[in-house]
Parts: sequence; C-alpha cells; structure tokens
Amino acid sequence: MVNKIKLDEAYSLQTPDDSVKLYKKWAKSYDEDFAKSSNYLSPQKISNFFLKNSKNTDTPILDVGAGTGLVGKFLKINNKKEIIGIDISSDMLHQAKLKKCYSSLIEADITKKIPLEDNSIGAVVSAGTFTHGHVGPDALDELLRIVKPGGLFVLSINSKFFVKAGFKEKFIKINNLISTPLFEKFSAHAKNINKIYNEVEIFACIFRKKL
Ligand SMILES: C[S@@+](CC[C@H](N)C(=O)[O-])C[C@H]1O[C@@H](n2cnc3c(N)ncnc32)[C@H](O)[C@@H]1O
Repeated sequence: MVNKIKLDEAYSLQTPDDSVKLYKKWAKSYDEDFAKSSNYLSPQKISNFFLKNSKNTDTPILDVGAGTGLVGKFLKINNKKEIIGIDISSDMLHQAKLKKCYSSLIEADITKKIPLEDNSIGAVVSAGTFTHGHVGPDALDELLRIVKPGGLFVLSINSKFFVKAGFKEKFIKINNLISTPLFEKFSAHAKNINKIYNEVEIFACIFRKKL
C-alpha cells in the first residue's frame, strides 16, 4: 500500500517544485522501498539499451533525472566512460553521490535552460523521468542543444504519457534534427504482486542527433 501511494503521488505532481518536495521525502528510502520492493527494472533495461547502442566516442554521458544514481550504478559497472548526473532534487543527488559513479552532479531543472554548453555532451541516458507529473517533450529542445552532433539518446518514456504529453507530435517536429527513432517496449517492473506496477509500460526511445 505504501508503494502504491508513492507511485500515485509521483504521477500526480504538477510542477518542478512538487518534484523537489516529493523527492526530498523519498530520497533516503527510494532504493529500498520503491526500487527493490517493486522490482523496478527500468534503470537496468535502459542501461542495457545504452550499452548495446553506444560507441566509444559517445562521451561524456549525461544521466537526466539521475535520482539516486541507479542508472549510473549499472553503467559504471559495465563501461569506463565519464558520467554526469543531473536532477532537480538535491536530496536525490546526495544519494547518487554516495554511489561514487558520477564524475559530477548538477542540480538543475531540465525544463529550463540547462547549465551546459552547446554540443558538449556525447550521450543522454534517462530512466523514470519522462513520465506522468515529471518531464514532458519540450525538454528535448534543450537536450538537443547540449548534445554533440551524432550524440546518442536512450530515453525511457512512459507509454501512456507518450501519447498524453504529445511525444508523438514532438518527434515529428524534430525529425529533421534526429535519426529515425527506434522504440522498444518493455515493462518497468518485473512481475509484482502489487498490480499497479504490472501495468507500467515504457518505450525505450533510441536515436542520434544528426551530424
Ligand atoms: C522516478 S525518479 C527516477 C530516478 C532514476 N533515474 C531511476 O530510474 O531510479 C525521477 C527523477 O526525476 C527528477 N526530476 C523530476 N522533474 C525534474 C526536472 N524538471 N528536472 C530535473 N530532474 C527532474 C526527480 O527529482 C527524480 O529524481
């Protein structure tokens, strides 16, 4: 029941400030009482898609909505590239720092101007951030600005949010800036006794910024 309330709470956030408040309460217990107890698979799945599609030149990696660092943890075990984490919640980033897998951590709202130079990032990876109550399609404009030509994107987008938030239209709008995206559907959680988790489906969206 506790987990159900948390997922509902997370999905009904309205503003970036709401995210800061929710994740402040949640940061310390997120890995145990959400990720572990709900068999949350997205960070591992997204990391695997990333590793399958990335090249040596796709560096540094920016983990968008890095949270407590679960993507960084999987990527660090399996590759030697520099990983930068960015998140709006200082409390989540504090937990990520403890995992010692990021070269730097940036506290910023990615729906605003991102404090990174044009064409400075080799790849963007993200799990659990493009979802209900969190970050919508317009953040792709800033991410495209900071990524180098040819840079890789591997993003999880909640499948119901994809339709509701207008990602389809956004991908049509930016089609001259990116390669044809590949969409791979997967379940965010392994089989769960709490039914709410079995319904969460994700698109892994994989594409490159055009040269
Ligand atoms: C469900 S957590 C996912 C964390 C991690 N990637 C994972 O898969 O465990 C979503 C994260 O997105 C962050 N977030 C929400 N809105 C954001 C925004 N506007 N800018 C940056 N980060 C944001 C939250 O603070 C939170 O850490």
